[in-house]
Order: sequence, then C-alpha cells, then structure tokens
Amino acid sequence: MEKKEILYTIKGLPPFPETALKAIKAIKDPDSSAQDLVDIIQYDQSITANILRFANSAYFGLRTRVTSLKQAVAYLGSKAIMDMLLLSGSLSYFRGEHTGYGLKGEDLLNHSVSTALMCRILGQKTGLKDTSTLFTAGLLHDIGKVVLSSFVKDKYDEIVQLVTNKNYSFVMAEKEVLGMDHAQVGGEIAQQWGFPEEIGRPISLHHQFKEAPLEDISTPLVFLADQVYFLVGGTMGADSWSFKKIKDALKRCRLKEYDLDDAMLMLHEPLKSVQDLIRS
Ligand SMILES: [Fe+2]
Ligand SMILES: [Fe+2]
Repeated sequence: MEKKEILYTIKGLPPFPETALKAIKAIKDPDSSAQDLVDIIQYDQSITANILRFANSAYFGLRTRVTSLKQAVAYLGSKAIMDMLLLSGSLSYFRGEHTGYGLKGEDLLNHSVSTALMCRILGQKTGLKDTSTLFTAGLLHDIGKVVLSSFVKDKYDEIVQLVTNKNYSFVMAEKEVLGMDHAQVGGEIAQQWGFPEEIGRPISLHHQFKEAPLEDISTPLVFLADQVYFLVGGTMGADSWSFKKIKDALKRCRLKEYDLDDAMLMLHEPLKSVQDLIRS
C-alpha cells in the first residue's frame, strides 16, 4: 500500500531544473564548447546568479572578481560549473525538516554536500580523473529521504520496533515496513530526473554496496563518503543506525585506512567554505 503511495509521491516531485540538466549534458559532450555552455545557462537568471555568487566565494579563492557567466566558465572550467549547477539545482530539495529521519534545518543539506565533497576527494585518491559523476551521486545519495521522510514519520514506531527488537538496520526496517527504503526511492528519483545509471546505481545501493558489480567502485565509494560524515561527528539522524564496517568498502576501492584519515583532514576546508556559501 505504502509503496504505491511512495511511487505516486515521487511522480509528483518537481523536475530537476532543466537548464542544469541541459548544461550537464553539454559538459559531457566532447563536441560542445564553453560558449555552448554559456548559451544554455544565460537565460536562467537564478542559476546564473547562483553561479556568479559561487564563483566569487572563498571556495574558489579567485583573485579577480567574476562578473559574467563567460568569465566564470573561463576562470573555473566546465567541471566546477557543473558542480555549481548541481548544487544550485538541488538546494531547494534538501532544505527544510525531514523529521522522519530526525533531520532538522540544514542537516540533510550539510550531509549531502559533505558526502559529495568526500566522494570527490576519495575519487581523486583512487586515481580517477573525472570525479563529477561521483560528486553528483554523493550529493544526491540521500535524496530519497526528501520523499520518504513523511512515510517514515507515520510508521516510525513500527520501524524503530524492528531496529530495537530484531536488530534490523534502519534502512532494512524502512524497506520491511514501507516496501521501499530511501536508497531505492533515491534511485527512482534519479531515473525520473534523467540522470544516468552510473549516478542512479550508487544512490540506490549506497547502503548495500556489495550488491553492485565488482568493477563498479562508485557505489562503495559513495558508501564510504556517507559513513565518513558519521566518523567526523556530523548529524546523520536515523541513518547513523545503519553504520557498518568500512573495511570491505575500502578494499573494493583499493584504498587504505590512512587514505581515509587523510581525506577527512582534506574535507574540512572545502566543506566549511561551501557551508558558508549556502548559508549566505
Ligand atoms: Fe542513506
Ligand atoms: Fe547519507
């Protein structure tokens, strides 16, 4: 019963901003130029304003003040523009209360941004050159919570019952009680928004990375980046009950524990500047 209603609610979600999606596709297309990117974005005032604000923030630390989209593309490159498009496209979804998961105010936004940045850092440590897919998957990994929160809230007692009495993880209990867990819901949303499988899969399997094919390192990597937030003391609400051992995931990504320690240190600065930026 709930599953039908959940799927219905997903259908009712507003689409991911079209300009952002078009621009992301253009960036991936080797035949498109920086001018094509500017042409796509310039008619969208709110995205343009966000890009200029982001471009002039401490996160990029540019010495020159960027005043046009063309300059922003030239100074920062298309990959950074893509991160900004994703951030500005998803900000409105993450803000607000997700009380079913014990998440308030900007908890989910902070966790999502931290996971995205951590995905990028860990991706670089595995030797990946293009970490934009990972960044996206990390940013959107818990997007399912936006839809599932009210369903979880309604059945909270039943879910917690399974967690405390039957030793279920929170995600397992969600699935048992509601027919779907937030990771699966996130996968559905990613598909509806037109994101490719390489982004959808890590989202839908971020709590069960072992189900992903062995050659896929994005899924265990998103899992690791997600868990790190708990290790650095972030508020994850109910998801911290799903905390699992990270050794297997490290192995699958061919990373060592010291890589993770190092990545946690590297996370601090960029996370702080992005957080300052989205708060401003
Ligand atoms: Fe999650
Ligand atoms: Fe998460």
